[in-house]
Amino acid sequence: MVELEDLPNVGEKTAEKLRDAGFGDMMRLATATAKELSVKVEIGEGVAEKVIEAARKAEQIDFETALDVMERRKDVGRITSGSSGLDELIGGGIETQAITEVFGEFGSGKSQISHEIAVSVQLTPDKGGLDGECVFIDTENTFRPERIRQIAEGFDMDVEEVLQKIHIARAFNSSHQILMADKINELIQRGVNIRLVIVDSLTAHFRAEYVGRETLATRQQKLNQHLHTLQNIANTYNSAVFVTNQVQARPDAFFGSPTKAIGGHVLGHAATYRIWLKKGLAGKRIARLVDSPHLPEGEAVFKIVTEGITD
Ligand code: GTP
Ligand code: MG
Repeated sequence: MVELEDLPNVGEKTAEKLRDAGFGDMMRLATATAKELSVKVEIGEGVAEKVIEAARKAEQIDFETALDVMERRKDVGRITSGSSGLDELIGGGIETQAITEVFGEFGSGKSQISHEIAVSVQLTPDKGGLDGECVFIDTENTFRPERIRQIAEGFDMDVEEVLQKIHIARAFNSSHQILMADKINELIQRGVNIRLVIVDSLTAHFRAEYVGRETLATRQQKLNQHLHTLQNIANTYNSAVFVTNQVQARPDAFFGSPTKAIGGHVLGHAATYRIWLKKGLAGKRIARLVDSPHLPEGEAVFKIVTEGITD
């Protein structure tokens, strides 16, 4: 086991700064960028490059064969959404080692699914969970413990225990949101078994804070950095990342959907699974898988009830 202090250019003080900034894990450090490191740890980019290089050596990062990739994919865990139809649509549940995005209009069920999986990740694997805890980054102040109670009771779980395993971060602006995501590493290194990270909503603060064309590049760059952090957590700790996103009207659309997800190409490329939610008749919700590396596009219907999400 190589410790941070064993790396060249890393003394006790730098090691401490690295840990504080969430780079205590060697793999996390090895996959950081020099720019990211220099900003977050306040070291020169040259030094940062050397530290990263050393971490890469320590972690023996190199090409891997397709067989290695297949081996790693065997560890992919899945979290039930509560609806077997929706689970099936996305290949058996919300996947670890990936970012899953749901987007849709207000009231389409994005936050409801977020609440549901915050509970279901705690189930045992035979029941569709990962025996894990979760981080819930709440940017719109819509997290409701009362709702968690109802869902937990639906699963016949100990409500207090369930609530204790959901780690909430209220994010007041996009910088705060980015900071809280960076701090997840710390929580995991303290020994908390985080298997799911929810960001509800991923884009609301970014959208509100960066208005106008001239700020678009900065917004996308920040969002990209944030997504990079999230993807890193997913890979390093075999966790699932679930993000919600609003839609914007697309008045120029003659065919297809009259709305589109915000976040642009940055999010479009970062999310492994993109699910579009629509409101249907009689309280029904329709989920459409929009983008997936290996699954066909398709639709599933689910319902929101007192106990959460169901078929
Ligand atoms: P925005 O955040 O506004 O963009 O919407 P959202 O997609 O997050 O919507 P959300 O997931 O909050 O869905 C809200 C809808 O869920 C409500 O309109 C209700 O239809 C339904 N809902 C919420 N709580 C309950 C509940 O306790 N019982 C039932 N049956 N339905 C609920
Ligand atoms: Mg919501």
